[in-house]
Amino acid sequence: MRLDKFLAEVGLGSRKEVKQLIKKGQIKVNQQTEKSDKKQIDPEKDQVEYQGEILHYQEFYYYLLHKPAGVVSATEDKHDQTVMDLFSPTDYRSDLFPVGRLDKDTEGLLLITNDGKLAHDLLSPKKHVEKEYFAKIAGVMTAEDQQRFVEGIMLDGELTLPAELIIDETNSETSQVRIILHEGKFHQVKRMVKACGKEVTYLKRIRMGELTLPQALAKGSYRPLTADELQGLKG
Ligand code: URA
Repeated sequence: MRLDKFLAEVGLGSRKEVKQLIKKGQIKVNQQTEKSDKKQIDPEKDQVEYQGEILHYQEFYYYLLHKPAGVVSATEDKHDQTVMDLFSPTDYRSDLFPVGRLDKDTEGLLLITNDGKLAHDLLSPKKHVEKEYFAKIAGVMTAEDQQRFVEGIMLDGELTLPAELIIDETNSETSQVRIILHEGKFHQVKRMVKACGKEVTYLKRIRMGELTLPQALAKGSYRPLTADELQGLKG
């Protein structure tokens, strides 16, 4: 990798800014001052230093975000605040993106990464990664609805994969449920509930595979995944 690319990747500055630092002799490679921005380095082996600090290259970043309602799961939007706007300038990188989409009014767990392969694996229906939602429903969910979720519901001319409907609480008018899906069709939870003649009034994703939304993570905040969480996701 070129030295200027490496320095920009580790967050030392823009490509233009880091070229200046190199020119001024502020960067050392393996203890030697290096003045060429085209110098090829091996990020795994070579020791790159700025003001006495050794710079560590990280290719992939993984964050767990507690999405609040009102922000969109996109990297850019003309009208709405996006989940990327919740990142601090030091953590923000232009290659980060949310893994899958939650509706604007849906809250909960969202993984943000720049690892395209992991994102693909987590979203692929073939991999059957469970996505668990907590939902409040206007209407009473029943044992027949549970059966329909298992058998599949016709959406977009296709039967949904077997899903689980766990009824936690009901009264005469409303229900609180958990729903476990293995795929992520557009508005899937809301449309499956609607197919049963009821309506979702609140929706929150609480789990993706082995990754659960921590109680302590406030709405709108995020933190890096722990090594254990990452290992659990990669399976
Ligand atoms: N299903 C929905 O209907 N909305 C979401 O945001 C996620 C799953």
